Amino acid sequence: MSVTYEGMTFDEFISAEEIQQMVQDVARRIAEDYAGKQPLLICVLHGAMFFTTDLMRALPMDCTLASVHLQSYDGTSSTGQVRESKPLEADIRDKDVIVVEDIVDAGITMHYFKQVLMARQPRSLKVAALLSKPSELKFEDAKPDYVGREIPKKFVIGYGFDINEYARNLPSIYALRENG
Ligand code: IMP
Ligand code: MG
Repeated sequence: MSVTYEGMTFDEFISAEEIQQMVQDVARRIAEDYAGKQPLLICVLHGAMFFTTDLMRALPMDCTLASVHLQSYDGTSSTGQVRESKPLEADIRDKDVIVVEDIVDAGITMHYFKQVLMARQPRSLKVAALLSKPSELKFEDAKPDYVGREIPKKFVIGYGFDINEYARNLPSIYALRENG
């Protein structure tokens, strides 16, 4: 199946069922690593909203939730800068923090945000990303600790991923058709 936004065609890339398997897989790895702990999940809005709610419900241990709104993309490409339009209000000192991100691309967002968080002295800090594009990574420290799936360089929408704020509500993930 395919969908069209802003004159561009996107083909189904990861089905809703496959996404749920990826989420369960990430949750299982986190559950193993955080046994006996009560992690604080920080949802990076808005992209990671859907992943965060599904991931949190799949975690067996007590955990808490906070959010931050970071933006680095305009349309289908990165602006190269991170805008913090809703700062993090939670106190993270001495907490086991897991940042929940939709996708790590060049790593600009996570490189920036991890520095912001480390300055606030969490007990531990890890990043869970539903997707990552390893070929595009420019900051080694932005590499996620948990990844649902590594993908090639593609622009994706659906399940939280947007094109200029649209398409987040598609249940599957779609990839931009090359030369389409
Ligand atoms: P980075 O800062 O270069 O790693 O880019 C990561 C951010 O850009 C993510 O938080 C997403 O919001 C956005 N982004 C990167 N790739 C895509 C994509 O393929 N579709 C939608 N958003 C993306
Ligand atoms: Mg984002």
